[in-house]
Amino acid sequence: MVITQCADHILRAFASWPEAALCARDTRLLAFCREVTQKPALANELGSAWRSFEDDLFLQPGFLDFLLPLEDEAVRAAQADLARLQIAGVATPDRAEAQAFLRGLAAQTADPGRSLLESSLVSCFRRRGLRPRWPFYARFLLITDAVYQRFVDDVHAAVFARLVHQQFLQRRHWPTSYCGGYFYQGSAALGIRGVKPSEERYEAYQLDRYLTSDSRVLDIGGNAGFLAAKMAQRAAQVDMIELNPFLVRVADEVKSALSLNNLRTIVDDFQFFDSPAGQYDVVVSLSNHATIDTRLSIDFHAYIDKIARLLAPGGLLIFESHNINGPGRGLPGDDGDIEDKIAYMQTRFEVLDRYMVDCWVPALDIDKLFLVLRKA
Ligand SMILES: C[S@@+](CC[C@H](N)C(=O)[O-])C[C@H]1O[C@@H](n2cnc3c(N)ncnc32)[C@H](O)[C@@H]1O
Repeated sequence: MVITQCADHILRAFASWPEAALCARDTRLLAFCREVTQKPALANELGSAWRSFEDDLFLQPGFLDFLLPLEDEAVRAAQADLARLQIAGVATPDRAEAQAFLRGLAAQTADPGRSLLESSLVSCFRRRGLRPRWPFYARFLLITDAVYQRFVDDVHAAVFARLVHQQFLQRRHWPTSYCGGYFYQGSAALGIRGVKPSEERYEAYQLDRYLTSDSRVLDIGGNAGFLAAKMAQRAAQVDMIELNPFLVRVADEVKSALSLNNLRTIVDDFQFFDSPAGQYDVVVSLSNHATIDTRLSIDFHAYIDKIARLLAPGGLLIFESHNINGPGRGLPGDDGDIEDKIAYMQTRFEVLDRYMVDCWVPALDIDKLFLVLRKA
């Protein structure tokens, strides 16, 4: 049965992950997968729902081109038809034609007899475990989100579909996408795994200790706004500045889905962001001062000076590094010179706390250095 096989693939993929890397969403999804594989009656009962779930997925542009195992020759050859279908999938109600196309596509994949979704899942794996590259992880994690949304918790299914569509537009129209075009941040509130689950991250960074109901917060490079949304549930006001307009649209969806009136999203380049001095009590800069997309061109000293100016006296800088094991030559994402950077920060700030934080996708992401600093 397709549902049982897919659930089994998901279980086997997560089996190699350390317990500490699993977030709450993973645990609930794995419980569902275990139930399906252990109870044939349940698998039977869900069989037809699974078939229409698969069709629904592939009839949406945001999933279609992302989930197909594109390394397959036959599938690559069908790209032109695919583009036509993507338009048809959104614009025309001719589901029968689209479904017939999908069946044809499934028959041409390297795994005849497997459904399109199962082929997609299987393509994420080497002989043992997930392939250690973003395109495969991205595909795998998006499939797990979709299963979660449909079979475990469907409260935000419509929002999820819109967010996936924004990610699709981003991949098409924005020069750089993080994490193979999948969600960099996750949101337990919305059932999205993400590469960095925001609620777990919020806990690990002990942000409740540093935010109060009076805090005015600036989140630099706030990405999809999932962490900003979590902070807005505690702080008085959270402003999130993000250069990528597709991510800001995602954040705006989140803001309205979670009814957060105190979250303000700003599409801007931080280099040109202008705000009165002393405007914020807390500035959050997570993996942001030398972004690997190379779209933040301000140098580190100017970046820190700017943050210091924006903070009120005694204000806090919540800071996460990039790769502290890099060569330290000032390239994007390289924090091999982190001690020099900290020395510069100490000319403006006092270090209150510092520790390493674990990543949540062990094979591809890296652990980072986390710091809390107070403006002198
Ligand atoms: C590595 S991600 C970190 C995202 C977020 N701070 C986090 O840790 O979850 C870097 C983010 O900065 C954004 N970004 C890049 N250049 C920027 C700029 N000049 N101004 C504002 N945001 C920028 C990217 O679009 C991306 O969302």
